[in-house]
Amino acid sequence: MTEDQPTPKTDGGTDSVSSDDVALDPWGSSTIEDYRKLFEQFGIEEFDADEVPDPHYLMRRGAIFGHREYERVAEAMANDEPFAALSGFMPTGDPHIGHKLVFDELIWHQQQGGEVYGLIADLEAHSARGMSWDEIDEHARSYLLSLIALGFDVEDGELYRQSDNRVLQDLAFEIGSTTNFSEFEAIYGFGGETNVSHMQSVVTQLADILYPQLDEPMPTVIPVGPDQDPHVRFARDAAARMRYFKVTEAFASFELDDGERELFRELYDDLTERDDVDTDDLRCEDAADHLTVEIVSRMGEGVDEATYESLYEKLENGGKEPIRPRVRFLDRNANEAAFDALIEAIPGEKRRYDAHIDSFDLDPEDAEEIAREVEIEHDGYGFQAPSSIYHRFMTGLTGGKMSSSVPASHISLLDDPEDGYDKVKSAATGGRATAEEQRELGGKPDECPVYELYAYLLAESDDEFAARVYEECAGGERLCGGCKEQAAELMREFLEEHQEKREEAKEILEDVDIDLSSDRRGLGGQEEEDAV
Ligand code: TRP
Ligand code: SF4
Repeated sequence: MTEDQPTPKTDGGTDSVSSDDVALDPWGSSTIEDYRKLFEQFGIEEFDADEVPDPHYLMRRGAIFGHREYERVAEAMANDEPFAALSGFMPTGDPHIGHKLVFDELIWHQQQGGEVYGLIADLEAHSARGMSWDEIDEHARSYLLSLIALGFDVEDGELYRQSDNRVLQDLAFEIGSTTNFSEFEAIYGFGGETNVSHMQSVVTQLADILYPQLDEPMPTVIPVGPDQDPHVRFARDAAARMRYFKVTEAFASFELDDGERELFRELYDDLTERDDVDTDDLRCEDAADHLTVEIVSRMGEGVDEATYESLYEKLENGGKEPIRPRVRFLDRNANEAAFDALIEAIPGEKRRYDAHIDSFDLDPEDAEEIAREVEIEHDGYGFQAPSSIYHRFMTGLTGGKMSSSVPASHISLLDDPEDGYDKVKSAATGGRATAEEQRELGGKPDECPVYELYAYLLAESDDEFAARVYEECAGGERLCGGCKEQAAELMREFLEEHQEKREEAKEILEDVDIDLSSDRRGLGGQEEEDAV
């Protein structure tokens, strides 16, 4: 089953994409021009920090702008139920302040009580970016040191590299058998020339995303940039198609598609409210008579003519069959033993058909739970759809996008603190041409990479400080010279402190069960790195 959204056409860096489209390309170098379009085109939802208990400052300040079903995770957090967070890093260069956003997101979820995983995407770096194993080892260590230095608790969380996680590879293999090349073409623009290991690294990433649920299915959030959304959607899809049963609602013995089901629900609810209709004694053909234009129009734009007609026909054909709402378990991948066990497990009145079971005394949530339990008892995974949150890409200090091949555009977490200071001092701003103009018109903090540094990093959790910078800038009280001086000093301090903590993290990393000097042989080291 695929989600009901347009497939993102990504070009893998070969084709061009029409300017109306937003490309979501995990291996491209596109900046996402218009985040709004992501909502419309791909169904990414807008992030609302108010729905999160005690939200992180990146959530409060709009750096995290979008999500898929994060409410599952927020709810688990609020109710003290288990949840997980996982993200991965391709060790293609030094960790920089863009990666820090994701490090911070992982650490925050850990502090909120989640089971948190950080992984090194070494298979991807080797196959998609041509990094040699020696380079990968070196960069992997550096990412982990920064993650630990920023506060990741290694006792509480799990760190792994894709290449030496056997359990992960087994899961990737299972996922691989439910996906095919046409999907790779449609989702990633892969073609005949795409190397096979690159494809393997994709199924590995899908496995990464579901890995936290191997012991126990639970809400899981994947904090990433929006370029990773194709992977998230693919993983959500894979999770659903590996389920043994699909739980749906039905009203009579015949099948309904999603549109018909919604329309039927509306019709049924309408009829239960009417005095002149006894819903306990309602037959299909009678319901057909009630399926009026009025009901259809109440559903707004959700219903098309075809849906109306097909439901009408099904009701007519149903004739005298009584209408009774029920929960239906459709057999997707269940073996016979699991199907039999499900029948046993359903309480109350039930009816067994060839490829489904109807239950008359269960609500859909309990039904979901029973289906999952039976699946897990019979060697299934019982995955929940993984959730995601998306952060904005940071603007490059030079104004364009942040790119690892333009050192002045970004700040590496390994930069000499003085270099960090200098880079901020020479950064582009949202300031006016002259001080006078700035005093009169105010600066443009929304277009200023320096303000972004304050909001995303330098002000840390001090909202009041971030707001003050913004207001002083917009109000013309703040001039760029002094503003950059202050930011540059804060950056220097941050880098000094971070690098000290990285030193301390070395000892901690020693004790972590992760092999950072792989003996792997192979190719690599010949391809250029791309944008960060
Ligand atoms: N593809 C990601 C990147 O390019 C890295 C990655 C691998 C990842 N596995 C993951 C990210 C799982 C999130 C979840 O950076
Ligand atoms: Fe940017 Fe500061 Fe200048 Fe405002 S005053 S435009 S925030 S550098």
